[in-house]
Amino acid sequence: MKITVFNGSPRGRKSNSHRIVDPLLEGARQAGAQTEEIFLTEYNINHCCGCFSCWTKTPGKCVIDDDMSDLIDIFYESDYVGMATPVYGLFMTSILKKFNERLLPTATPHIHKNEDGGCYHEERMHYPRFFMIANAGFPGEHNFDLFKAYMASQNPVLEVYRNSGGVLEEWPDENVKKRINEFYDALREAGKEMVNEGQVSEDIIKSIHAELISDDEFIEGVNQYWDEAQA
Ligand SMILES: Cc1cc2nc3c(=O)[nH]c(=O)nc-3n(C[C@H](O)[C@H](O)[C@H](O)COP(=O)(O)O)c2cc1C
Repeated sequence: MKITVFNGSPRGRKSNSHRIVDPLLEGARQAGAQTEEIFLTEYNINHCCGCFSCWTKTPGKCVIDDDMSDLIDIFYESDYVGMATPVYGLFMTSILKKFNERLLPTATPHIHKNEDGGCYHEERMHYPRFFMIANAGFPGEHNFDLFKAYMASQNPVLEVYRNSGGVLEEWPDENVKKRINEFYDALREAGKEMVNEGQVSEDIIKSIHAELISDDEFIEGVNQYWDEAQA
């Protein structure tokens, strides 16, 4: 089994997104999967030019000569594909959005209607099963509303919505550190369950979304950090 995560943070290997992906993939490897995290910021990916040649003149192939054709090969080779991103303007980064738009050659122009009433394009080849990992700078849940709507039609194996994401970088409080370690443990278990069970249990999903820090403590710490950074 192969699991690939496309990480859309401009902060790449230093990102909070990577801090979340890393234990998840570690757990998957412990259960026998082959894993890869692709830092999209390190690749040459141009914007989709909207020519639809991948549906007409060169079916399944994009006319743009950049790294995307190799990434689409990796996409098809994967049993599970994760998209990891920080929340930027209430949704995914432009890096990950651009990657998603360039997946157009993986669909055909033909449209069908799902049971949910929505209209979708047909998959050109069998798609991997998706999962989503988003981390927000703010406390609260509303920053993930667009992600939840986006994933609703995709039958994802897992959705990880981590608020107060900056806390993963460094936080002095020992109780918070302990909860962060529990969060990483739950992600490792989720990775194992994805491989062994093809799903993630409710208990693990609950542990992943347990509060790491109170809103007030986080807001106070963040505001103090920025005061010092500006001084
Ligand atoms: C341009 C920009 C837009 C952002 N927009 C949001 C936002 O809408 N909501 C939010 O909660 N955080 C927002 N953030 C904060 C990031 O989501 C947060 O810093 C995150 O932890 C960064 O994750 P990363 O290290 O994986 O890139 C924004 C940050 C930047 C730089």
